[in-house]
Amino acid sequence: MTSPSPAAMPARTVLITGAARRLGREMALHLARSGWQVAVHCHNSLAEAEQTARDCHAINGLEHRVLRTDLNDESATRALLSQAVALFGQVDAVVNNASLFEHDAADSFSYERMVQHLRSNTGAPIVLAQALHAHACARQAPAGAAVVVNLLDQKLWNPNPDFLSYTLSKAALEAANTLLAQALAPHVRVVGVAPGLTLTSHMLSQDKFEQLHQLSPLGRSSTPQDVAATVRFALDNASITGTTLLVDGGQHLRRFERDFSLM
Ligand SMILES: NC(=O)c1ccc[n+]([C@@H]2O[C@H](COP(=O)([O-])OP(=O)(O)OC[C@H]3O[C@@H](n4cnc5c(N)ncnc54)[C@H](OP(=O)(O)O)[C@@H]3O)[C@@H](O)[C@H]2O)c1
Repeated sequence: MTSPSPAAMPARTVLITGAARRLGREMALHLARSGWQVAVHCHNSLAEAEQTARDCHAINGLEHRVLRTDLNDESATRALLSQAVALFGQVDAVVNNASLFEHDAADSFSYERMVQHLRSNTGAPIVLAQALHAHACARQAPAGAAVVVNLLDQKLWNPNPDFLSYTLSKAALEAANTLLAQALAPHVRVVGVAPGLTLTSHMLSQDKFEQLHQLSPLGRSSTPQDVAATVRFALDNASITGTTLLVDGGQHLRRFERDFSLM
């Protein structure tokens, strides 16, 4: 029996959360260039998400669809993967990219702020991994064929006290990255990708961002293209699970007293 030619094989489908803008959009375009079909998840940025889906279509001619969900809402998040399966027939991977990034610190911490970050940044990625595992088992996917990529942050390896609730939510996700890799094998691989300072925020001027971007042993932190290429590598490499790839020009090797946004 001969195996099907690559042209005859169905495209693999990836659900990328928060893919309307910024790093998520870059990942969508990068994966479309590699022949993936993308479920472009968004929350508020619907018009940008539709543009991302159109741009993916212009790249590889496949149908890319937009799914809108508030990841704070557990039942809506639980329904998200099955909505993608209904649209595409199957889903091969989830990239947990969407993230809340609101400032707090030890003096302004509250249960409310912490829970808000934990819901979208930790709970939603776990629920989506759980759903991908159930889907992979139901369709008897080969071992390691289904993949979850969790976007983390170099600051977990180089902590500072700013963005306390955000950092706690990503630290919990980093722990979940290991626990899920153990629990969901052999059906699902689980891989972390931890960028350094990659895109500016509303708290940084462009000049300041460019200056901070150079503060690393390699003289440059990560670019959106570096991060997207690492996500693709994690999706393609069948032997990686339960670990994290830091993509930060070595920023985690340097001590920073404050978050970049406040430097
Ligand atoms: N940017 C960096 O330099 C950097 C550095 C280190 C780590 N990272 C990590 O890389 C990832 C992407 O970074 P980014 O800067 O591109 O992210 P971002 O712009 O801060 O957020 C990405 C998207 O997350 C979505 N989102 C937030 N809360 C949501 C909710 N409750 N429900 C649904 N979607 C929600 C938003 O979608 P809508 O716009 O549709 O509402 C937003 O566009 C994040 O996980 C971040 O922690 C980024």
